[in-house]
Amino acid sequence: MLKKFNHLAIAVKNIKKASEMYKHAFDAKVSSPKSYPRHGVKVVFVEMDNSKIELMEPLDDNSPISNFLKKHPDGGIHHICVEVENIHKVRDNLIEKGFRILGDGQPKIGAHEKLVLFLHPKDFNNTLIELEQE
Ligand code: CO
Repeated sequence: MLKKFNHLAIAVKNIKKASEMYKHAFDAKVSSPKSYPRHGVKVVFVEMDNSKIELMEPLDDNSPISNFLKKHPDGGIHHICVEVENIHKVRDNLIEKGFRILGDGQPKIGAHEKLVLFLHPKDFNNTLIELEQE
């Protein structure tokens, strides 16, 4: 069911600083910041030939990544994202096998304007996995 690795996401306190660091260190191509009020984050992508790194900054204290940053004040790896062919089919299949989906279990429009959902990290070695409709 897993088709393609899409991105690795890192939570950061200051997305501008983090973007500059990737540009300074690697001369990296970094997309311009985009805010997603529905997800409570501001996001940029560090682009590579075969993949990307997503840097995320919380929009406010209610952001789902605010707590993560309280525990990891210098930022840290937050989730990985893998593409699937049919997100609803994969979701139903996972539920049938007893895996837990975060939130109401309904795929939502994510940072690439595609349907995404998140799996419970406790079911996957404390790794938050985002599934994205390819
Ligand atoms: Co993501």
